[in-house]
Amino acid sequence: MRVAVIGTGYVGLVSGACFADFGHDVTCVDKDASKIARLKDGHMPIFEPGLEDLVEQNVREERLHFTTDPTEALKSADAVFIAVGTPSRRGDGHADLSYVFAAAEEIADRMQGYTVVVTKSTVPVGTGDEVEARIRKRRPDAEFAVVSNPEFLREGAAINDFKRPDRVVVGGADDPRARKCMEELYRPLFLNETPIVFTERRTSELIKYAANAFLAMKITFINEMADLSEAVGANVQEVARGIGLDNRIGSKFLNAGPGYGGSCFPKDTLALVRTAQEAGAPTRLIEATVKVNDARKKSMAQKIIDAAGGDVAGKTIAVLGLTFKPNTDDMRDAPALDIIPALQAAGATVRAFDPEGVAEARQMLRDVEFAKGPYECVAGADAMTILTEWDQFRALDWKRVKAALNTPLVVDLRNIYRPEEMRERGFTYVSIGRP
Ligand code: UGA
Repeated sequence: MRVAVIGTGYVGLVSGACFADFGHDVTCVDKDASKIARLKDGHMPIFEPGLEDLVEQNVREERLHFTTDPTEALKSADAVFIAVGTPSRRGDGHADLSYVFAAAEEIADRMQGYTVVVTKSTVPVGTGDEVEARIRKRRPDAEFAVVSNPEFLREGAAINDFKRPDRVVVGGADDPRARKCMEELYRPLFLNETPIVFTERRTSELIKYAANAFLAMKITFINEMADLSEAVGANVQEVARGIGLDNRIGSKFLNAGPGYGGSCFPKDTLALVRTAQEAGAPTRLIEATVKVNDARKKSMAQKIIDAAGGDVAGKTIAVLGLTFKPNTDDMRDAPALDIIPALQAAGATVRAFDPEGVAEARQMLRDVEFAKGPYECVAGADAMTILTEWDQFRALDWKRVKAALNTPLVVDLRNIYRPEEMRERGFTYVSIGRP
């Protein structure tokens, strides 16, 4: 099949590369000429494990193409994916749909023959209706369908998530031609017996928000259990294991930490809250989740300050990990963006290291010294804190760290070490929700 993908962000690029790998002929289009030029040269705009090889292989086999020209991309395309950004609109938290509608109009002006227009971007309920209306207005006679097909991939595990998803959701493929097209696109997953949920378009749009909101709520729930564990002398990791073994609850997404971040949960929970308020059906659980998570990210600096004896003025704090999670260079809404400025405001000097996030972090943080590796980062520091659970922080040479630190204090906001072992190594070790 001929596929066009509009937008080469996380979702667009990964979807494009994976559809090409499924055997389709895919053209990815983006307005950003320098990004397209770099992609053509094999340079990825994001850090995502396995993506560079997948792109390289499919470009070599001539199934994957990049262009800035939508006319070229859309030429005789059977399906066109809208995978542009839907950032939070400043001020009100609503998803900004201007890129989605601009893409819809670009498609309207260029599509040829029966075309399935697929929204992959996370869009509020009703967006598909609006996309359809806008296309219809520009092309009253055109033959097309607008289908919702939300994406559930995670950064850092994107390719595996795309190729081996728990399910695929398709909304609004009522026209048999549209349904056949979607089945054909995902044929390799059909063979794997991946459940494909065909539903109404509005339902499909809501499924995406409901999934992210539920996961954000699950994380927030365990984070509150962590605070309660600290207060009553329990161990949150064992609480998580104890409840997670109940199949109705499930053990995933129960790692307590400094609060969720990233480009999706904060934005999507907020957008869902706004949609629900406007629809007169407020989602109070999600409203609370948003508030609790925001407050948590802000409170983490105080936890570090308390561990350092209540005062960090004039002290140097070594921060290991800046990105919102490992295996990405993405800094959007990372807890580090709340924690580091608060430590600085309390008078601390911050030295930081991250395996992939430094280039982005430089643009978002001020007066931070960036180290080249974890040991350089901790040298002469008065405390060390782990904000992201990168694998390379899971096997640190603790003798070296101890010799390098001024004070053997470790604040681990990701619970990647065992408290007993850290104490045996001679550290004061503070973690989340554990005695
Ligand atoms: C999330 C969803 O997991 C994807 O299914 C979805 O497709 C994506 O949003 C999206 O809407 O595009 P992502 O933001 O890449 O994916 O990252 P997650 O792995 O979900 O992590 C989000 C945040 O939750 C991170 O800050 C992470 O540290 C935190 N988290 C996650 C925890 O604190 N504890 C956990 O147990 C799990």
